[in-house]
Amino acid sequence: MRIAISTGGGDAPGLNAVIRAATLSAIDRGWSVLGIKRGYAGLLGEDEVIMLTADSVRGIAHLGGTILRTTNRGNPFEFPVQRSDGSWQEIDRSGEILDNARNLGIEALISIGGDGSLAIAQRLVERGMRIVGVPKTIDNDVSGTVTTFGFDTAVQTAIEAIDKLHTTAESHDRVMVLEVMGRDAGFIALHSGVSGTADVVLIPEIPWRIENVCEAVMERDRRGRKFAIIVVAEGVRDVSGHESLIGASPPGQDRRVGGIAQRLATAIQDRTGKECRSMVLGHLQRGGMPTGYDRLLATRFGGAAAQAVADGKWGHMVALQTPNIVTVPIAEALKVPKRVDPNHDVVQTARAIGISFGD
Ligand code: F6P
Repeated sequence: MRIAISTGGGDAPGLNAVIRAATLSAIDRGWSVLGIKRGYAGLLGEDEVIMLTADSVRGIAHLGGTILRTTNRGNPFEFPVQRSDGSWQEIDRSGEILDNARNLGIEALISIGGDGSLAIAQRLVERGMRIVGVPKTIDNDVSGTVTTFGFDTAVQTAIEAIDKLHTTAESHDRVMVLEVMGRDAGFIALHSGVSGTADVVLIPEIPWRIENVCEAVMERDRRGRKFAIIVVAEGVRDVSGHESLIGASPPGQDRRVGGIAQRLATAIQDRTGKECRSMVLGHLQRGGMPTGYDRLLATRFGGAAAQAVADGKWGHMVALQTPNIVTVPIAEALKVPKRVDPNHDVVQTARAIGISFGD
């Protein structure tokens, strides 16, 4: 048996631990393993395909990033190609993937990725490719699994930032606005905000109003708490549906959101007279060593993915359904994207302990 592994979409701490566990579990079964570089680029002749051996995955479980590299561009079904006049068109290159996989003797693929990569995997399965998925995203926005690896590390990074902002905010009686990742889902903001005892948490699932944010800050002020910590997910929308976009999205890429922290800080300062500062945590959340939780989850996912290949679970992804790792159809998992439930106990408790959601 010859299998291949690929990593697609934005990187997440724990990818290397999945690659290592899947590779070693495959070798343990007597299979050979190929690594497709940079998503599907290695199968489109735009990057390499390498052998993965016990040696090549040695000492990587604790490292962030991915030894296979990754990309969040180049969906093979809608591959962006620039015309001679500079305009862009999208072409279907999925046939090349199937042909090249066949020519390389790849009998099964373990595709590690977020909702975008899993959707591509599902379409390739429908075209006859034998694929098992491994859900990956720091945003924790894939359904069917309690959590994804990378999320815990990102939350930990955000909590460390909040802790540090706290001391300086308190020293200066300032309002600190921290922008964290989360284009459509507010899990990072919610979990880090509650754990870091923020005063206001704004998430994409709950539209906010500037008046309410300012009132939360001033209500604290009246109680003698002169500083405030606000954690805002980059993809929030206010009550009129406005989000903070960074320019136009390049072809074949998701919309880019960001800049809300600075806008919010300016608006709060203008309305309350309080001194405000903003900070964007950005890609620090995707970098660095995975936490112990993420390393273990990633390792379990890698081992389970090899088992799913052995069981012929094509079109399924591995998932955590505590306390077990199970497999679920990718199509099922993709049907409804995972979002923060505004009635979830974390939100309810946050409100009960005085955190404002700006609504
Ligand atoms: O989907 C993961 C994610 O980290 C989002 O939270 C964020 O909006 C996006 O990736 C950033 O992507 P890029 O690396 O292209 O800036």
